[in-house]
Amino acid sequence: MSEAASRAIAMLEPLLGDRLVTSQAVREHHSRDTSRLAPAMPDAVAFPRDEAEVQAIVRACAEHGVPVVPFGAGSSMEGHTIPIKGGISVDTREMNHIIAIVPEDSIAVVQPGVTRKQLNVELRETGLMFSVDPGADASLGGMASTRGSGTTAVRYGTMRENVMALRVVTPDGVAIHTGSRAKKSSTGYDLTHLFVGAEGTLGIITELTLRLHPQPEAVSSAVCSFASVRGAVEAVIETVQYGIPVARVEFLDEVAIENVNSHSGLTLPVAPTLFFEFHGTPAWVAEQSRIVEEITAGHGGSGFQWSTDADERGKLWQARHDLYWATKARRPGCELHTGDICVPISKLAENIVAAREDIDASPLIGQIIGHVGDGNYHTAYLIDPHEPAELAEAERLSERIVERALACGGTVSGEHGIGTAKLKYLRREHGEAVDVMKRIKAALDPKGIMNPGKMGQEG
Ligand code: LAC
Ligand code: ZN
Repeated sequence: MSEAASRAIAMLEPLLGDRLVTSQAVREHHSRDTSRLAPAMPDAVAFPRDEAEVQAIVRACAEHGVPVVPFGAGSSMEGHTIPIKGGISVDTREMNHIIAIVPEDSIAVVQPGVTRKQLNVELRETGLMFSVDPGADASLGGMASTRGSGTTAVRYGTMRENVMALRVVTPDGVAIHTGSRAKKSSTGYDLTHLFVGAEGTLGIITELTLRLHPQPEAVSSAVCSFASVRGAVEAVIETVQYGIPVARVEFLDEVAIENVNSHSGLTLPVAPTLFFEFHGTPAWVAEQSRIVEEITAGHGGSGFQWSTDADERGKLWQARHDLYWATKARRPGCELHTGDICVPISKLAENIVAAREDIDASPLIGQIIGHVGDGNYHTAYLIDPHEPAELAEAERLSERIVERALACGGTVSGEHGIGTAKLKYLRREHGEAVDVMKRIKAALDPKGIMNPGKMGQEG
């Protein structure tokens, strides 16, 4: 451990007591995320309970020049929470209080360690829900920091649309608030949306004011197979253009269908497939299903089945959410090399078709899934971590999807963020704007202590 880190830790011990941990097991847990990326150990892990404790941690680290790396549930996928330069990992799990629910304004105020499922359990009786669903039971602070989204963004938006206000401890230890409870505002720089997606490089979120949505009266789901990837994507484009407010629409290619069938006990035909979900009144969900069935039939869809049965729906979406693990299980000992491309929806079919052709021509096994209503798709290549040639091949395939996305006005990450894995693409997407990001970082964090070596410093 560096002398600076020992000094910061000694300063914090009287305040945090046994909530400042240096044991090997706890440091190891905070050395990685869900990605395949190499772990790196923090010098210590702090478990603050409130904003004042976060301020004390940041001040001690600022005084001694020690890195501070915020940590939520550890479910991020690009290495965001890996303390690549050591320092103190600040785990927000004990900041897990729901501070207020204001049903009449459709707002919840929470500490950053509250998870999305925890909030939804608390909201059950209110008739409201928190919509953003990345699959994992992520912490809301982490979801805001990575500007996460997932399956419901097509209807309810990403974290960008659902965070109204924040409290943040900045790298000098000062606590500020950004935004307000008002639905709109035209005052000042939009700092809320500077911190949403900053990946802990500009400060630590200590409180979030979130937008809530009404729980739908009725929910139906539907599954439909297609003769081609293009047919599936074109059906989605027409559905969106028609104005059907689909709550979820997920694409799974043949490999993904094989994976959900074998891992989650489904018996779906092995073909490009869409999973839909509709929200509304009972009559409206039936009407949406009927219209979408017609649209899918016009694009080579077959076997359209819809259901309002909660168990059936639960099984379907659990299978979708478990896909990451289902894919890993396909090749024991493998790691997933993942991609997260988002393009204008009119370009989605050609991007997915080309990505699929690349995988078919490659020795690697790979699958493509997508939050297709948003123009967002994920690749996952199964690689043996001990075979450098396989990593090189996955990198080559990634280069190609990135090139295509950027050439058609897209982005190299729709929802997983930059972390360390996608840093190399930041300048290709943003050009000289990366220098503006670096100036913002340098202005807010002149000592470079907040999640160092990542966005705002590199790239
Ligand atoms: C998903 C995560 C990996 O869509 O983004 O399953
Ligand atoms: Zn996703």
